[in-house]
Amino acid sequence: MTRQLIVGNWKMNGSLAANHDLLRAIQAGLSATACPAAVCVPSPYLAQCQQLLQGGALHWGAQDVSAHEQGAFTGEVSAAMLRDFGVRYAIVGHSERRQYHGESDADVATKAQRALAAGITPIVCVGETLAEREAGQTQAVVKRQLAAVIHTNGHCISEIVVAYEPVWAIGTGQTATPAQAQEVHDLLRAQLAAATAHPERISLLYGGSMNASNAASLLAQQDIDGGLIGGASLKAADFLAIVAAASQ
Ligand code: PGA
Repeated sequence: MTRQLIVGNWKMNGSLAANHDLLRAIQAGLSATACPAAVCVPSPYLAQCQQLLQGGALHWGAQDVSAHEQGAFTGEVSAAMLRDFGVRYAIVGHSERRQYHGESDADVATKAQRALAAGITPIVCVGETLAEREAGQTQAVVKRQLAAVIHTNGHCISEIVVAYEPVWAIGTGQTATPAQAQEVHDLLRAQLAAATAHPERISLLYGGSMNASNAASLLAQQDIDGGLIGGASLKAADFLAIVAAASQ
């Protein structure tokens, strides 16, 4: 079984003072036997993470990366810049980026490629909306989203992390049931197995209202290898409880 991985997605939350306390508390609470864990923070705070977390057990990452290498792209942050700040992970294709910033499957695939080229592990998010689920399109949607990333990244695909995040479960308190999540993870695992000789290297995370109470039952599913945690990653005790559940 793939080793569990727990990643926090802070979204657009935080301040220098609050981050300091949160990062210190998480660091102090990670036991020696904890599974790998990381926090994906707003870009201005990557330097703070590098300073506070360097050499420790808690890794850090970005929430997006530019599809371009460099140049006249005002407001964008390149993979090489992220690398300068020691990031290990970059979330790509989060549904909030797809929805509010019009990111296409092809954009997401290129972003994953840029991250990989810089030695950063992309956490590729896929997931269906409520309307798509109700129309019976869940499998087709997540397969299409992942296929674009597989197509563009070829043999590097075993170096990615995939997060299944049903859009209707994000920030709503309405978690997918363990069986619903497992069904999609099983499908994604099969799709990855057809694309690489090393599908076991790819962690398949679940995201969408995962919290300290429901983490254990989700993580117990055969093809759920960890979590991408939004709201519950902003409280050290909750985040640590999820890491503990994943470290059993
Ligand atoms: P949530 O967010 O845990 O607050 O639902 C998860 C995510 O958007 O990655």
